[in-house]
Amino acid sequence: MRILGIETSCDETAAAVVSRTAEDGPLLLQSNVVASQVDLHAETGGVVPEVAARAHLAALVPVVRRALADAECGWDDLDAIAVTRGPGLPGALLIGFNAARGLAYARGLPLIPVDHIEGHVAANWLPAGAGGASVGDEAETPPALPALALVVSGGHTELLLMEEHGRFVRLGGTRDDAAGEAFDKVARLLDLPYPGGPPISRLAATATVRKTRLPRAWLRGTDDFSFSGLKTAVANLVASEGAPPSAEVAWAFEESVCDVLAKKAARAAEREGVASLLVAGGVAANRRLRERIREESPVPVHIPPPVLCTDNGAMIAAAAFRHLDEAVPAETALDIFSTAVRKAAVKRSTSVR
Ligand code: KG4
Ligand code: ZN
Repeated sequence: MRILGIETSCDETAAAVVSRTAEDGPLLLQSNVVASQVDLHAETGGVVPEVAARAHLAALVPVVRRALADAECGWDDLDAIAVTRGPGLPGALLIGFNAARGLAYARGLPLIPVDHIEGHVAANWLPAGAGGASVGDEAETPPALPALALVVSGGHTELLLMEEHGRFVRLGGTRDDAAGEAFDKVARLLDLPYPGGPPISRLAATATVRKTRLPRAWLRGTDDFSFSGLKTAVANLVASEGAPPSAEVAWAFEESVCDVLAKKAARAAEREGVASLLVAGGVAANRRLRERIREESPVPVHIPPPVLCTDNGAMIAAAAFRHLDEAVPAETALDIFSTAVRKAAVKRSTSVR
């Protein structure tokens, strides 16, 4: 079985072909094409939704063509098209979602709508080392369930209990900025480019003095997070007289974020008695976070290779393999769901779907 996965929820136009030769067999990554809009958004220091949507429109067809070509896969070789339905930027989502519907309709293929967050988590079932990344530390065996999933990206910071494939309970999440958003905002304070995660990480590694300690919001008794106070602390520190060099500020900031994420995820994993801890989303590419989570976790840790941590189509196809029974004809009346809609729905139902 072969699935084409399409992802356009934020600022990457992505498509990938993922296959599986036997039910419950391992997933194989046949292609993974990501057209990043990073340069476009670097000018504004962040994603402008309308600009992102237009860029998706321009990039989508070539990206899908390339994903099929790289996989040496024709339309007739596909069994379904999976696409991100939300959460994400509405305009951006609409481009990928409607393109996927159109393609599915034209080719008579079933459509599988996928939750973006679930996609990030599903990247942990893709082959380690996929995309040519050097992995090194990933466990060889697929993650054992039940698992605790920490999803940390530019738009989301969530702790989810994954009881079985496709079934999630939301334990907590950020009350203000997402972890990646904090990296991006602090990068601006330090005059670093967007997206802020990689340059902050590189700068932090060069810090020769490592003394400054920035606050940590523990929000004890909850599985929630908060990063806006930390961002303000960085702003105040940078503006103060005798501020430390920016490398030390970057180091102190990264330590604070990684410490809170690692300890809270590890404690929740212990409390919930899960069999593994999964980390996903763009911030999971952070080297210090990967290290700290492994130090703290009481259970085996799984983190996708960095190239599969940031947004991609392979994770959407991977998640779709767990929802084959939810495939619908392309003409089914369906809409995207944006971040706001999903958040309201999730609070009470404690389900991410
Ligand atoms: O998952 P993703 O590609 O898009 C969203 O769904 O948001 O995550 C992008 C976020 C950005 O905020 C970026 O700064 C952050 O992930 N990020 C990192 C690193 N690489 C990307 N944050 C910290 N360290 C990194 N190495
Ligand atoms: Zn994402």
